[in-house]
Amino acid sequence: MTSGNNWIARSLQHVWHPCTQMQHHENAETGTPLMPINRGRGAWLYDADDKPYLDAISSWWVNLFGHANPRINAAIKDQLDKLEHVMLAGCTHEPVIMLSEQLAAKTGHALGHCFYASDGASAVEIALKMSFHSWRNQGLADKREFVCLKGGYHGETIGALAVTDVAIFRDAYGPLLNAAHVVMSPDARQAHDGESAADVARRAIADVETLFISRADSIAAMIVEPLVQCATGFAMYDPVYLQLLRELCDRYRVHLIADEIAVGCGRTGTFFACEQAAVWPDFLCLSKGISGGYLPLSLVMSTDQIYQTFYHHDIRRGFLHSHSYTGNPLACRAALATLAIFDEDQVLAANKLRAAKITAALAPLAAHPRVQHFRQCGMIWAFDVIGADADFSRRFFSTALQQELLLRPIGKTVYFMPPYILDDAEIALLGQRTLSVFEQVIA
Ligand SMILES: Cc1ncc(COP(=O)(O)O)c(C=O)c1O
Repeated sequence: MTSGNNWIARSLQHVWHPCTQMQHHENAETGTPLMPINRGRGAWLYDADDKPYLDAISSWWVNLFGHANPRINAAIKDQLDKLEHVMLAGCTHEPVIMLSEQLAAKTGHALGHCFYASDGASAVEIALKMSFHSWRNQGLADKREFVCLKGGYHGETIGALAVTDVAIFRDAYGPLLNAAHVVMSPDARQAHDGESAADVARRAIADVETLFISRADSIAAMIVEPLVQCATGFAMYDPVYLQLLRELCDRYRVHLIADEIAVGCGRTGTFFACEQAAVWPDFLCLSKGISGGYLPLSLVMSTDQIYQTFYHHDIRRGFLHSHSYTGNPLACRAALATLAIFDEDQVLAANKLRAAKITAALAPLAAHPRVQHFRQCGMIWAFDVIGADADFSRRFFSTALQQELLLRPIGKTVYFMPPYILDDAEIALLGQRTLSVFEQVIA
């Protein structure tokens, strides 16, 4: 038995894996293989037998600059000998101060305060609670409902699930959820003949306005994933939607929460996706890529106006939310190293060139007769497969692994969300092998 097989058997015995029907890991023929990963370097993961896999989905969309990145490693090692952790209630430290300063500066100080947590879903919980509490502090405690987009995904804790519209994740927990209003997605794939993506966005905005006209007095906030709804199958939409939504939220006094957990940190081409619509939300959630994919770190940025609604001598008007590892110094140092790489390597500009090369390498797939809605936004690519059966994504994942590619389609949608470091050879390999996997799976 190789150490890989041994790890799989031991893992199945005692590790309860996330987002998984564990029984499906048990049959290597018909189920999904469990990958025993031993190490990572650059865009590659290596299993227990040192077989490499190109991590074309950045390990659940978190890894920006490769595994074992020397610059991020060095920053964490340096921090480790200074201060591994201290509670952020009543204490502060330089990494969290610098990170908050740098992020606020990236918004031109439109979002002047950062509140920290660990995972994405916690950031969403914080934004929802802050929105409600802010209105309450202003004497508007009736504003307690939330609005989300059809197919929206914001995480899997109870509050985040209540604003998530992906049936497979939420149906079992329906009785526990204080469900949100669900409005039309601006997904550009819904365009009728002659309609542009911007036209679809305007149609979707009309749906929001209808709801706001009747219920804005009860609505605290609307939450969106700016530009790309990733978990629902990479629905992409026109930035005009965000502009019009900002206007509506202002007009009807509803907070706008931008969940940039998946689409922030340069993923859509700008550092924050909202920049492409030239608007700022009232709350912006970040996680995943902000620590370079190293350590659990999430945060909610808010306007100083929101902050002021909590600023008072009465403790009950304060935001009394906390997590033990809030603002962890190691995670903040990883984030500072990540931001430094953005600046030093002019990553946003370099990604434009890299993205053009990736699009070119994927051109044969885009032109394939079984491919529909090939789409791209920054460093995200996706396409839908015509005639994909219910087993398509499982077979694609397994076949891709055989060809040393880590790709996990969502339903009939194949997507790529690679780290921002692929070189020309890796780009060519990605294009050629994905085409070969695709042809094998649909044959
Ligand atoms: C848009 C969005 N929001 C929230 C989350 C939840 O983040 P986490 O898995 O870190 O809780 C995710 C995770 O994929 C996400 O894509």
